[in-house]
Amino acid sequence: MEAFRVLVIVLVACISISQAASTNPPVQGLFVFGDSALDGGQNTYIPGSKIVSAIPPYGKTYFSKPTGRWTDGRTIADFLAQALGLPLLPPFLEPGANFSSGVNFASAGAGLLDETNAHQGVISMKQQLRQFRNVTNEYKKGKGVEFTNQLLRNSVALFSMGANDIANAVPSSFLFQEMIQAYSSAIQEIYNYGIKHIIILLAPPIGCTPNLRAVSAQSRNTNLTPEGCIGIINNLVDSYNTKLLNLAVKLHNDYRDLNIATLNPSPIIMNVLRNPEKYGFKEAEKACCGGGPFNAAEFCGDADKHDWKPDHKNKYIKFICNNPKDYLYFDSNHFTEAGYWFVMKNFWHGSYNIARPSNLNFFFQGFNIPNPPSAP
Ligand SMILES: *[C@@H]1O[C@H](CO)[C@@H](O)[C@H](O)[C@H]1NC(C)=O
Ligand SMILES: *[C@@H]1O[C@H](CO)[C@@H](O)[C@H](O)[C@H]1NC(C)=O
Repeated sequence: MEAFRVLVIVLVACISISQAASTNPPVQGLFVFGDSALDGGQNTYIPGSKIVSAIPPYGKTYFSKPTGRWTDGRTIADFLAQALGLPLLPPFLEPGANFSSGVNFASAGAGLLDETNAHQGVISMKQQLRQFRNVTNEYKKGKGVEFTNQLLRNSVALFSMGANDIANAVPSSFLFQEMIQAYSSAIQEIYNYGIKHIIILLAPPIGCTPNLRAVSAQSRNTNLTPEGCIGIINNLVDSYNTKLLNLAVKLHNDYRDLNIATLNPSPIIMNVLRNPEKYGFKEAEKACCGGGPFNAAEFCGDADKHDWKPDHKNKYIKFICNNPKDYLYFDSNHFTEAGYWFVMKNFWHGSYNIARPSNLNFFFQGFNIPNPPSAP
């Protein structure tokens, strides 16, 4: 009897705790704009796109098949959707996809500027915004204006753009000015459509990728940072990130009801490069998948084919590591799922040098978050 009473009290306590939590509304939708860091398979549906990863062994860890993502598993967009209790968002171009919880517009190779990789078959930021307008019009036609406004009010926009513009152009202050201008209009447009919760991923330290390590080894560049990265490239990224951060501060001051967070992967990645074992990685320099120096000279696609042989097109034997979770980088330019997960946990719980003005844990207070990532 006594035990039963304790059980009842525990049950009542549990019910009141879950009721308290559920008084916060859930996030209803997630809209993703970006490049290969967030691409959920968009480029697969662009006829003739030259930047496509829908080839094994991409996707092998989580999906057991290629999905068009540029990693072995989930991206930051996927981890965010799961944290919020949403399904993984389908790419806009996927035929018959269900957009009721949001859309992924990200496209590998895309930039803030229309001319970035324009002839490779990518969807630039401006075109992604056009797709967003199309979806909101479809919502309004199908479910009505009231429903659409409420969905957008309870939605989050996630952005990651700029690294391809920097990698593809001769950087100049004019280029940065154009990029920030494009970013600024994009954020204001999304805000004007009614999305008040906006997360900006700053650019990663692209001077540290296996790709650029291989390039600098080939050109016998000895002017490297202690982590073995090309410092001038990382400095460009830092200078762009600072401008983007300033834009976010300005927009936050201009629009008092805009909840905006800027998340910087650089300090997280540099920590891993300095001390991989401490953070659970065995290899932070070479790619898990590819071939040649740093496994960065051959495209990862088909690396799991046993009969692969070097030929006139492919100089090196291709390789896929046994345990992608031991590696920070999956291919020559992109992180493993384990790498993205480590970054995500730091975005959720990190301090001011990573997340400004606040980390995601604070950003989402007031919402019911069913699966918040654990501390790193
Ligand atoms: C779309 O997904 C939502 C859940 O996200 C579900 O409630 C709805 O029934 C789905 N619609 C269709 C047509 O499958
Ligand atoms: C959205 O785009 C599709 C495909 O291009 C088109 O058929 C549809 O009419 C567009 N919808 C709106 C509301 O613009």
